[in-house]
Amino acid sequence: MPGHFQYSVDNAVKAAGLAVGAGIPGVILFGIPDKKDEKASGAYASNGIVQTAAKAIKDKYPNLLLMADLCFCEYTSHGHCGIVSKGKVLNDPTLTLAAKTAVSQAAAGFDVIAPSGMMDGQVGAIRKALDGAGFSDTPILAYAAKYASAYYGPFREAAESPPSFGDRSGYQMDPANFDEAMREVALDVEEGADMVMVKPALPYLDVLKAVKTRFGLPTSAYQVSGEFAMIKAAAKNGWVDERKIALESLTSIKRAGADFILTYYALEAAAWLA
Ligand code: PBG
Ligand code: ZN
Repeated sequence: MPGHFQYSVDNAVKAAGLAVGAGIPGVILFGIPDKKDEKASGAYASNGIVQTAAKAIKDKYPNLLLMADLCFCEYTSHGHCGIVSKGKVLNDPTLTLAAKTAVSQAAAGFDVIAPSGMMDGQVGAIRKALDGAGFSDTPILAYAAKYASAYYGPFREAAESPPSFGDRSGYQMDPANFDEAMREVALDVEEGADMVMVKPALPYLDVLKAVKTRFGLPTSAYQVSGEFAMIKAAAKNGWVDERKIALESLTSIKRAGADFILTYYALEAAAWLA
């Protein structure tokens, strides 16, 4: 993705510095481990890549809000978001790993844990584990309404995480289904989510609006890689005015109810708005 890179820890600290300099209040980290395996060991290793990066960033920029994406697809050899056995993703064994990962992330200094795997019961399992480990003040940002979307394509390439068989429709939501999004958000809220997210953003503004209105929680929207890449590609061809169309997209997401937006345009948008 234009302007986005896989960083070593020292370069991640530099990138965090750019965010701080631009007045961006927080960043989310995704990790790519040295080795991927069946158990996603790199996700919950105390010296795992995001744990190490979080410590280094917090050291230098203690006031930058650090969010941890919590999922296993970047860490498993098969690229699925959970433990796989006989070609199936197993929900409950994945929860045990999610609990462990959340505690290791909180211990590394992350301020917010953001589970994105869409396993049933993950928010409850993570809340319980955090509370039990002395992290009852660490909030959970639930990727509550996450659709099985083709807009994730560029991310999967960048994060080396496409599933090696099948797809994610067993755990992510059907784009045609609105009611299921409301049920998923309600469950995450019941299980203790402090903030919720809708993902992707622009194609799902109806869902975003409804989530903000019905639940009234701090609500975020994730302008995902495909949304970003489409604007970049069209702009490169001279077909659209990049600055105007990017800001219009972000404004629309905000108008629909997002209290905060995860976007690959963060640095550029901050510069345009300064
Ligand atoms: C992993 C994850 C994905 C994204 C964020 N976390 C990919 C997926 O679900 O396949 C996509 C983000 C983007 O496209 O920008 N669970
Ligand atoms: Zn995943």
